Amino acid sequence: MIVCSCNCLTEAQIRESCARGEGAPRSTFEVYKCLGCSPKCGTCARTIRSIMDEVIGRDACGVCPVAAGSACGAANIADALNAAIEPLPAGTALVAAE
Ligand code: FES
Repeated sequence: MIVCSCNCLTEAQIRESCARGEGAPRSTFEVYKCLGCSPKCGTCARTIRSIMDEVIGRDACGVCPVAAGSACGAANIADALNAAIEPLPAGTALVAAE
């Protein structure tokens, strides 16, 4: 099925480009670039994003590579940072720096 009529991109081409693992496109713009073209009218962008979400994983933030069905690495980093910050002792008051 043709998804992008301006560039004659098929759904299969888009799926294949997104499933390349490392180096796979992480944005719609990168999908066009990966397939040797660029966006023209942009009508297909949402459909391309939907296909990407199916192939890469709906929770992907687009910043880090994640395997389909796994959690976004950025969320893992936030969890790790939160766990590394020691809570303040009870009764400690925060004072704004001057
Ligand atoms: S339909 Fe894809 S850029 Fe126009």
